[in-house]
Amino acid sequence: TTLTVLDNVPFGTVSGENLFFALRIERPEWADWQPGQFVMLRPVGWALDMIWARPFSICRVSKRDLVIFFQVVGRGTKRLAELKAGDKVVVWGPLGTPFVMEEKTPTLLLAGGIGIAPLIAYAQKHPQPWNLHMEFGHRMPLNCYPFESINERITAASHYERGPDDLAHFLDLVETSVKEYAESDGLVLACGPTPFLKAVQTFAATHNARCQLSLENRMACGVGACLGCVTRTTDKMTAKGVAAGRAQACEHGPVFWADQIIL
Ligand code: FES
Repeated sequence: TTLTVLDNVPFGTVSGENLFFALRIERPEWADWQPGQFVMLRPVGWALDMIWARPFSICRVSKRDLVIFFQVVGRGTKRLAELKAGDKVVVWGPLGTPFVMEEKTPTLLLAGGIGIAPLIAYAQKHPQPWNLHMEFGHRMPLNCYPFESINERITAASHYERGPDDLAHFLDLVETSVKEYAESDGLVLACGPTPFLKAVQTFAATHNARCQLSLENRMACGVGACLGCVTRTTDKMTAKGVAAGRAQACEHGPVFWADQIIL
């Protein structure tokens, strides 16, 4: 579907450079979507070397708009940062396997950096948001409309004040929370950079927590055809179509149970 960009707002700066953006586009005509799913997105009219679309977690869907977050990490995302109101993008989705949602289960949301996007979606869609708590570690102060909206719905502790070098402190807090939720038979959901997910995976194994991780793999086709997003799996992974210890993050994920994958 070709859709119009409504705005593209920078909301996080590192060393004076805008690195984080909230891209708001008109709402696609989807019947439904689930938190943890993603879209593939490509601006219209890019040069041939930019034909590859990129995957983005759905962050918010309202009656009027769809919001995704992205971080400028290379040539493609640098070009995305130039998108402005009125530009056209091609979007397809919603794609992938979403997070499980258990209305009455106390659920801990663990967000590392831009990995907060699908967890905002989760908080938005959850029918009993008072059962949610979020721990959020990130490098920059964030002030953007989606963050305001999650604070209205759930309790969220955010840790940027302690500075970028305080990862160890943040991970200590995360482990304490994972342990607590494991003891009360809660659910733990995490999204963020791989080293962060690895740490959460270890805590979940140590404390025997029910835990799902959303991977931020590179993707090309988004629909299980190119094998560009393969993830190694354990023998706990029994989903249809998974063979030889390999799963496609775009199709069988991006959300996996923590004990099903090898990071
Ligand atoms: Fe092509 Fe997953 S992105 S198989």
